[in-house]
Amino acid sequence: MRKRIVAGNWKMNKTLDEALALTTEVVGMINDEVRGEVGVVLCPPSVYLPLLGKLTEGSRVGLGAQNCHQKASGAYTGEVSTPMLASLGIGYVLVGHSERRQYFGENDALLAEKTKAALAEGLVPIFCCGESLDERQNQDYEAIVKAQLTASLFDLNAEEFGNVVIAYEPIWAIGTGLTASSQQAQDMHAALRAHIAAHYGSTIADDTTILYGGSCNEKNAAELFACPDVDGGLIGGASLKSREFTNIVKARM
Ligand code: 13P
Repeated sequence: MRKRIVAGNWKMNKTLDEALALTTEVVGMINDEVRGEVGVVLCPPSVYLPLLGKLTEGSRVGLGAQNCHQKASGAYTGEVSTPMLASLGIGYVLVGHSERRQYFGENDALLAEKTKAALAEGLVPIFCCGESLDERQNQDYEAIVKAQLTASLFDLNAEEFGNVVIAYEPIWAIGTGLTASSQQAQDMHAALRAHIAAHYGSTIADDTTILYGGSCNEKNAAELFACPDVDGGLIGGASLKSREFTNIVKARM
């Protein structure tokens, strides 16, 4: 079933003490203030996941990793596999964030492998897609983002695809303060849902959770989340502040 989710992507931020403090604050605020069906996920740097798992245990806050390797184990120095992540008891992993695509050369084929590796271990992949500013201004940007889904996800069978969450993150809106308007977000989310429907059928498309990410904050979240095809958010900078992140979650209640 389509879920409401607000996930925080901390990226490469916070020392251990800061990570413990932020998580403690978020767990407390979410516990005290948030009701209803919304799922809350924190994606800290992987090194903190085991310790933060102790703070989130028994709360409604889940944990996710920001990346994973596509292979289950082996001689891949510095990498973290999906069996390792699953053994921590976490639920989610980001796959194909635009920063991974841009700075680490991750391409559609690799992201297809990572998605399968996550699913094989029962982790929910949050598959990120989105167009650059140049693509938005000069090209058929809807076709570009649809092609990202086709290339990395559409080999999955229906049951597998049903366990994937999509995050639409226009690159021009990430960390820039330039949010997509609610109409721009809704248009792309609806286009992606139609694209999924054409491949997997309308029931699966209706059930697919599609998050918006890109300069989402406590001021614009309610308007974005009011769009019929925007099921929640993937929050970067604003997830580093407990009060603001909790307010964004409350906008999705
Ligand atoms: P910002 O919210 O900082 O724009 O980042 C969005 C993002 O990349 C989340 O994955």
